[in-house]
Amino acid sequence: MKTKLFLFGAYLLLFTQACVTSKSPEVLKDALKDKFLIGTALNIGQIWEKDSLADKVIKRQFDAIVAENCMKSMYLQPKEGEFFFDDADRFVEFGEQNNMFVTGHCLIWHSQAPDWFFTDDEGKEVSKEALIERMKDHITTVVSRYKGRIKGWDVVNEAILDDGSWRDSKFYKIIGEDFIPVAFEFAHAADPGAELYYNDYDEWHTGKCEAIVRLVNSLKEKGLRIDGVGMQGHLGMDYPSLDEYRAAIDAYSSAGVKVLVTELDVSALPSSRQNTGANIADTEAYRQEMNPYANGLPDSVSFAWNRRMGDLFTLFIDNSDKIARVTLWGVTDGDSWKNDFPMPGRTDYPLLFDRQYKAKPVVKEIINKLRIKN
Ligand code: G3I
Repeated sequence: MKTKLFLFGAYLLLFTQACVTSKSPEVLKDALKDKFLIGTALNIGQIWEKDSLADKVIKRQFDAIVAENCMKSMYLQPKEGEFFFDDADRFVEFGEQNNMFVTGHCLIWHSQAPDWFFTDDEGKEVSKEALIERMKDHITTVVSRYKGRIKGWDVVNEAILDDGSWRDSKFYKIIGEDFIPVAFEFAHAADPGAELYYNDYDEWHTGKCEAIVRLVNSLKEKGLRIDGVGMQGHLGMDYPSLDEYRAAIDAYSSAGVKVLVTELDVSALPSSRQNTGANIADTEAYRQEMNPYANGLPDSVSFAWNRRMGDLFTLFIDNSDKIARVTLWGVTDGDSWKNDFPMPGRTDYPLLFDRQYKAKPVVKEIINKLRIKN
């Protein structure tokens, strides 16, 4: 009799624990597992696990990763025919070892492309044919190296301006708008199983949104694979409105592709313009008055920031049928590019974890919101 009672008690304890555990996710990736992948961008130190505190947050909270910089063409192929894969190899291994969805960022981008890409042996502008050949060689070498391991690629990044016109990049000037379909064609040929994305910022501006939808339709009409549109999500405290963002999510989803929020951060700092832009060249000189929280965020601003991020995650969760992944552009506030853009030397607070690697209140709020829904 005593044995039976003991066994029943043990079973009851295990069953209760199982119920509590399954119903009480304590981390983002478990809470969001039925909604979308939750990812973060890794810098070089984090890829090589030099920062044990960040390492703990990354492995515990996220199920998707992207390399913030090391897979850009200037780093992977700094000289023609000379590839450097050490950091990228480690990044992909890290993702596989931790059972994460690994995204490659980015194959073709006007920024961070090495100068040699666009000049011939005499230092003159390279021909259209030669540039296409260089694109093919770069994309084929990189994508095939990680075939079956990198699950999705930002194939082309930031080719369209806010008004919907083409960015006058060297790719566009030399090849024309066809540089985009050829990039998608080369990427698909190198790994037919990989998802392919177009990625951009200010993705909620009507002109740009309409142009991206046209681009998606054009690639599909050419019979090319495009799986998703990356909405970078470099946002402000009060712009864009949730309605504007929701309209863009709907527009991309209606074009028949997945929506990915690929580089989410919400700047807590004042902006001289409604700057959700991320054109790395658009910098401004430092002005003290634009760096008001160098010694910490006032409670009122911290409260407003958590509410803004919470509203955005509510929007993402409510549209999780359209959204496949939400990736933060960095682990902690101290890692963020926003500390130096558009103005160098500022102290911003744009991410989910603070400079002490502590989760901000909104993280618990997201988890609790889903605990109730689950
Ligand atoms: O690693 C060097 C270091 O050795 C050197 O001492 C230092 C100072 O010159 O520069 C370091 O490289 C910097 C690199 O970040 C790593 O920190 C580059 O100068 C700097 O330009 C680079 O900035 C990155 C930027 O893209 C340009 O590639 C940011 O970290 C990164 O967050 C940002 O990310 C982009 C996305 O790829 C595309 N969407 C917009 C987003 C923000 O611009």
